[in-house]
Amino acid sequence: MRTSPVWNPQQYGKYADERGRPFAELIGRIRAAEPSTVIDLGCGPGNLTATLLDRWPAANVHGVDSSAEMIEAAQPLASDRLTFEVGDLREWTAPSASIDVIVTNATLQWIPEQLELLPGFVRALKPGGWLAIQIPGNGNAPSHAILRELAGTEPYAPYAAGTSLRADVPGPAEYVEALSAKGCSVDAWETTYSHILQGDNAVLEWVKGTGARPVLQSLPDDLRARFEAEYGARLAEAYPQQSFGTVLPFRRIFAVAQKES
Ligand SMILES: C[S@@+](CC[C@H](N)C(=O)[O-])C[C@H]1O[C@@H](n2cnc3c(N)ncnc32)[C@H](O)[C@@H]1O
Repeated sequence: MRTSPVWNPQQYGKYADERGRPFAELIGRIRAAEPSTVIDLGCGPGNLTATLLDRWPAANVHGVDSSAEMIEAAQPLASDRLTFEVGDLREWTAPSASIDVIVTNATLQWIPEQLELLPGFVRALKPGGWLAIQIPGNGNAPSHAILRELAGTEPYAPYAAGTSLRADVPGPAEYVEALSAKGCSVDAWETTYSHILQGDNAVLEWVKGTGARPVLQSLPDDLRARFEAEYGARLAEAYPQQSFGTVLPFRRIFAVAQKES
C-alpha cells in the first residue's frame, strides 16, 4: 500500500551526515545492553537502521517503511540479522511484550495522530524495553512557512491543498506526558542544530528530500518547475549563501522512554 507520494532515496541521501547526527544522538540515550529484537519504524533507505547492528551486533534488527522505493533502496543492506519490509507504522503490530527496542526517527511528524500510536508501541515492548523517538520541530521555520504560504496561492493551491507538513508537532513535554501515562520513565529534550550546508540552493535541495516532497509531488510537471524556482528564490533570501556555506537552523525533538520492568 502506498500512503504517500514517491520518496526519492537519492534526494533524501543528500546531507546524510546532517540527517544522521540526530539518529546517533537519539540512540546514544538508549541504555539497552543486549537487546535481541530491535525495530526501526519509518526506516527510510536503511543506512541508519544498519548502524543499530554496530551498536548491538547480536540483535535482530527489522526496518519497516511505507515507501516501496525506500525499502528497495534498503534491501542491499539486508542480512541474516537485518531485514526490511514495506508496511505502514499506523497498522504495525507486534505480539505484546515481544520487542526490546523500537526506534522511530524523523517519521512520526508525517502522522497527525502520532500520540495515539504510542500506547501500542509501548505495549509491544518487553518489560524494561525502550522506545526512542526523534522528529523535526521546525514546522514554523522559514523553510516550512514559505512552503505553506506558496502552496496556498494560485496556481498551486488547487493541487497542493493539504499536502504541507503541519507545524504543530508534539514537543518534549507532550511526549513526557503521553509516555509517562503508559508507565514509562521518559527522557525528552530538544536541540537546534546549525547545519552548514554546502552547494547552491542548499536549503531547497535539503527540503526537496523531505518536507517539500508532498507539495512538489502534487504539482503537474510544468507547475512543479515554476514552484521550485519561486520557492528556491525565497529560500535563498531567507537563508543566504555565505563564503563558508548556508546556515540552516534546525530544531529537533527527542524522547527516549523505558517501559517499567
Ligand atoms: C524523513 S524519512 C526518515 C527515514 C529514516 N528513519 C532516517 O532517519 O533516515 C521519513 C520516512 O518515514 C516514512 N513514513 C512516512 N509515513 C509513514 C508511515 N505511515 N508508515 C511507515 N513509514 C512512513 C517515509 O516513507 C520515509 O521513509
